[in-house]
Amino acid sequence: METSAPLASFTVIPNRRAVADEDRAALMEAPVFGKVFTDHMARVSWRDGEGWRDRRIVPLAPLALHPGAAVLHYAQQVFEGLKAYRHEDGSVWLFRPEANAARMADSARRMALPELDEGDFIAALESLVTADQAWVPEEPGASLYLRPVMIATEASLLVQPANEVEFLVTASPVGAYMSGGDAGVSIWVSRSYHRAIAGGTGEAKTAGNYAASMAPQAEAKAHGCQQVLFLDAKKNKFIEELGGMNVVVVRADGSVVTPRLTGTILPGVTRDSILTLLRDSGRSVQERDIPLAEILAGVESGEIVEVFACGTAAVVTPIARLVSDDFDLAVQGPEGESVAAEMLAGLTDIQYGRAEDPHGWMHRVV
Ligand code: COI
Repeated sequence: METSAPLASFTVIPNRRAVADEDRAALMEAPVFGKVFTDHMARVSWRDGEGWRDRRIVPLAPLALHPGAAVLHYAQQVFEGLKAYRHEDGSVWLFRPEANAARMADSARRMALPELDEGDFIAALESLVTADQAWVPEEPGASLYLRPVMIATEASLLVQPANEVEFLVTASPVGAYMSGGDAGVSIWVSRSYHRAIAGGTGEAKTAGNYAASMAPQAEAKAHGCQQVLFLDAKKNKFIEELGGMNVVVVRADGSVVTPRLTGTILPGVTRDSILTLLRDSGRSVQERDIPLAEILAGVESGEIVEVFACGTAAVVTPIARLVSDDFDLAVQGPEGESVAAEMLAGLTDIQYGRAEDPHGWMHRVV
């Protein structure tokens, strides 16, 4: 495991109205995902011609945003999601923050936003987690979810890249993202909505992709499902990803398949980590186009034994049921330990410091 050197320095303005210890403990009891926020946020400002400036940790507070701010009208924004984990000795660690920094830079290029370099990105996270370390949960499975976001703040209704931008990071103590647990969640396969098209913004982590997933997500809910699975927009044939996480399929012979990154799929850090762990364990892993028909036939014949979702928020969540207008299929699951359970344990053992970190993924903060 790597320990970090100090990075760009952030000025800290402490929150004089920080939540009292006993109130914080109550808030951290069983937080709904992303509903509880810590005392501070990180903030860096950018102006065209001047670059990034005013690196600071400030009390969490609503933003003063001009009603003409470009982000409100044209959704010029990108975001990220990663977590800080507390180890048994009390130390606090980030998981692959450089991967999130790189993806945010990729997303920023697509959305014509300025790139924030890796040093500033990681320093913002480290400074915020250090200021709010009391908010990093101790319970197994819980963590501090960090949400970096970059927004176009220039007051301008011209459809053009904004010349004023803010980078912010908030932090939220979290447990599980989806209810369903070991038993698995139900997934609605959307036939009428698509998430992304070639040349669009599907591989960028940007608000519009998620906004577009809400009506299909509501459709999923109306059918008793927790999440929606999208098919490719060109042929309406290949599985792509869920509303906010990637999908992995396990065959009866132990091999694993997942949709290849076509440019319309978000390149998940958890996806990449799990594929790495699967390959480390000697499994055959294929990244390719997967027709929905192959999944349905495979689940029915027993050729496909598991389907699971993976993402920073979802970690590894088994999928127990696939539903659409013309099918309702239970995914049986394997006889013995599932690959989903093996991956959940393998990944979280590294994240919580219970296992070796052979790829140097962990980054110590405090
Ligand atoms: C994440 O897993 O971090 C995500 O961004 C997914 C979702 C909560 C939007």
